[in-house]
Amino acid sequence: MSAKRRIKKSAVPEMTQQPIVVPKPSPKRFYGQGIPGVEFERLTGKLIVVEGADGSGRSSQIANLVQWLESSGHATVQVGLKRSTLVSEELNQAQQGNILSRITLSLFYATDFADQMENIILPALRAGVMVLADRYIYTLMVRDMVRGMDEEWLKNLYGIALIPDAVFYLNVSPEELIQRNFAKNYSLDYWESGMDLGLSRDLFDSFLKYQALVEKQFKRIQATYGFTIVDAHRSIDEINDELRSEIESVLRE
Ligand SMILES: Nc1ncnc2c1ncn2[C@@H]1O[C@H](COP(=O)(O)OP(=O)(O)O)[C@@H](O)[C@H]1O
Ligand SMILES: [Mg+2]
Repeated sequence: MSAKRRIKKSAVPEMTQQPIVVPKPSPKRFYGQGIPGVEFERLTGKLIVVEGADGSGRSSQIANLVQWLESSGHATVQVGLKRSTLVSEELNQAQQGNILSRITLSLFYATDFADQMENIILPALRAGVMVLADRYIYTLMVRDMVRGMDEEWLKNLYGIALIPDAVFYLNVSPEELIQRNFAKNYSLDYWESGMDLGLSRDLFDSFLKYQALVEKQFKRIQATYGFTIVDAHRSIDEINDELRSEIESVLRE
């Protein structure tokens, strides 16, 4: 083989990898009054939210998305409920004791959310990073609505939230959620079973009733917030393919 041919061959990289999508900055907004002083044009990263019940597969999907995004050159940051450095420990303690009223518990969660919004999500978006949120304001609102709290009050409270670039709701039947949670933890969570609501003394029965109420509220607010309802009964890979193809179009927007 001549030197000329060899140079030519190495100068053209083989297209074995997927082409890398360079994200375009898209205009962002808050749902309501937001956080003051934010310059939207500087928020060049994307905010992707994965919603769903315990056992719906959020962690599995996010882990796959992080691997995929990082391997195609996008830095990622993960956020989730009760993960703020400010109040997450106190929030856990308050839940153990079941001592807060619905309003104060709601405000506690909102504080945890606002802390992450201000100190993690916005700075990461300013740095052009892909932010993956394991749940967002929708879970918080739905939980409170199931407990009879006023929707307008909640909308106003969560007006501090940035409107995400994509929201996926992993939809799994309550029966299947029981199977998955048991296989993973050998138990059901007190709050995820809605045991504070007195729907049933039986944990399984309460879980089924509570998750059905949550699912109904999610489907109801879908019309307002326009998130993608994903059939999450399929295999982890099939679901991830759907999420990836939607995220690819978000990156191109
Ligand atoms: N699509 C799926 N099909 C079957 N099992 C799944 C699926 N997605 C997740 N799982 C399993 O269900 C359990 C809960 O998944 P996980 O990703 O931790 O959910 P979450 O973070 O929503 O609670 C894990 O044991 C996981 O392996
Ligand atoms: Mg999880």
